[in-house]
Amino acid sequence: MTFVTETGKDIEKAAKLLTEGSLIAIPTEAVYGLAGNALNEAAVAQIFEVKKRPANNPLIVHIHDIDQLNGIVRHTPDLALKLFDAFSPGPLTIILPKSTAVSSLVSAGQNTVAVRIPDNKITLDLLRLVQFPLAAPSANTFMSISPTRPAHVLAQLGGMIPYILDGGSCNRGIESTIVGIEDNRIVVYRSGAVSATELSRLGVEVVPVSNSAGVRAPGMFKKHYAPKTKFILTNSLTETVAMYEGNSIGLLTFGDGVVTGNFEVVRNLSTSGDVNEAAYNLYDALFELDNLSLDFIICPFLPDCGIGVGINDRLQKAATIIIN
Ligand code: TXA
Ligand code: MG
Repeated sequence: MTFVTETGKDIEKAAKLLTEGSLIAIPTEAVYGLAGNALNEAAVAQIFEVKKRPANNPLIVHIHDIDQLNGIVRHTPDLALKLFDAFSPGPLTIILPKSTAVSSLVSAGQNTVAVRIPDNKITLDLLRLVQFPLAAPSANTFMSISPTRPAHVLAQLGGMIPYILDGGSCNRGIESTIVGIEDNRIVVYRSGAVSATELSRLGVEVVPVSNSAGVRAPGMFKKHYAPKTKFILTNSLTETVAMYEGNSIGLLTFGDGVVTGNFEVVRNLSTSGDVNEAAYNLYDALFELDNLSLDFIICPFLPDCGIGVGINDRLQKAATIIIN
């Protein structure tokens, strides 16, 4: 089906479309989501179709209050309640035992479901209005850059959905952190806007998923967040720039250091060296550079602290070449 995609702030209109089983784009603090009624199997099937997403990659379910967990999960461990209490609404997704009310399409056949309470006013208002949970992957087509502005959604899904609920720019800028709970430990499936340091404040062990035997790692498609342009991620920026001299290059930088070379365009993710600001700017900068038909985009690794860990994860998934 084709649509004239409208962008606006009308939550009644958004709620009506969702209730009828249509999909719309919704803002979150992390990235925009392609949302449908999580309890309507036809709507969920449409999400996979529109996004061209393989059926073995499960979706995150969005709710506005932990009271809604009842209809979605079989039970909620104490540690999950503590996590919700400490980080919700916010960019933390928790994997929990799935109830039968949620179709196995949502969970890609697994007996768990990923749930989060997004920290975005207009989307929380919408969730309260519709009363059903919303399944929503990031609102990009499969393997492309995640959208953090309505214009990014329009560029990728324009004509494929009737409505983009406009919440402006996503203030965190990269996807939520995804965690599971095992033996009273927090297992990090995907690093993101909530850092491991913040998680460890709950006083339990925080481990990366690879260190935890037998757990299925999510979203591990190698080039999950890739731009079309060849993307070079490097630990030695000056040498890399020299090596690719003579090509049309877009440079992403970070901090106040000066990089000399011939560039078509330079975008600094944060002149003050702030990883949070870099996350806010990251996907927008990638979108911009990716539309310039450059030969290469060159980008340094960011400091591996706080949200920087999540940024480096996304950069590695976007990279065609990694120079260490
Ligand atoms: O910030 C976000 O989390 C955004 C916004 C829209 O909320 N959503 C998002 O969704 O990033 P998506 O579909 O792009 O990524 C969801 C990830 C996938 O890597 C998927 O494999 C994982 O969550 N996931 C979902 N359910 C899971 C489950 N039951 N077990 C393990 N991983 C799961
Ligand atoms: Mg995604």
